[in-house]
Amino acid sequence: MSNADRNKLFDDWAATYDRAVFTPSDFPFAGYEQVLADIVRRADAGVDSLVLDLGTGTGNLAACFAARGCTVWGVDFSVEMLSQARIKLPQVQFVQSDLVDVWPNELNHQFDAVVSAYVLHEFDDATKVDLIQRIVRQYLKPDGRVLIGDIAFATAGAREQARQQLGDRWDEDEYYWAADEALDRLRQAGLAAEYTQISACGGVFVVQR
Ligand SMILES: C[S@@+](CC[C@H](N)C(=O)[O-])C[C@H]1O[C@@H](n2cnc3c(N)ncnc32)[C@H](O)[C@@H]1O
Repeated sequence: MSNADRNKLFDDWAATYDRAVFTPSDFPFAGYEQVLADIVRRADAGVDSLVLDLGTGTGNLAACFAARGCTVWGVDFSVEMLSQARIKLPQVQFVQSDLVDVWPNELNHQFDAVVSAYVLHEFDDATKVDLIQRIVRQYLKPDGRVLIGDIAFATAGAREQARQQLGDRWDEDEYYWAADEALDRLRQAGLAAEYTQISACGGVFVVQR
């Protein structure tokens, strides 16, 4: 599927997205709220913190940081997702951009935390690592953290087992994380990285310099 088609898919989903994620389900959003809560806890951000939410969608993760008094920026390529987020969070600065394009100058800050939930599985492993490296080099304070919650499995074997079990419900256009492989790639790229499994199909990565 092309990038334009993916963008349209998210535009079409925006009005009903929150119903999907907040209705208990097994896959792909099992543990959605726990994943967000874990990101927030590990970010350890407060009123002085500058936080960037990648693929902010309707703003659910951004809202958690705004509630803590952080200064929050959110970026997404879907106009309709951003419209929903702007209604919810007038105090957050939202920017429309494709994460894998050159980012607009208004995002040129040094953030305490760059966070993301249920987005990076859009990209293959090499693109994920390139994006994270660029963020760490250009957009993160020296002692800052990147926190990524997503559809993820502890090992490539566990991911394959889930793929077999889920059959047609597995989206072959997406790149769900296998933490063992991802941690190897991130560490080979010179980054410190840890992973915690939160639900059967959701986990959180913490990446630092
Ligand atoms: C499944 S939603 C997650 C939304 C939100 N982070 C959450 O946790 O509820 C994925 C979001 O990523 C955005 N997205 C996907 N690919 C993107 C890209 N290449 N650049 C920017 N945003 C992207 C979509 O528009 C959508 O809002």
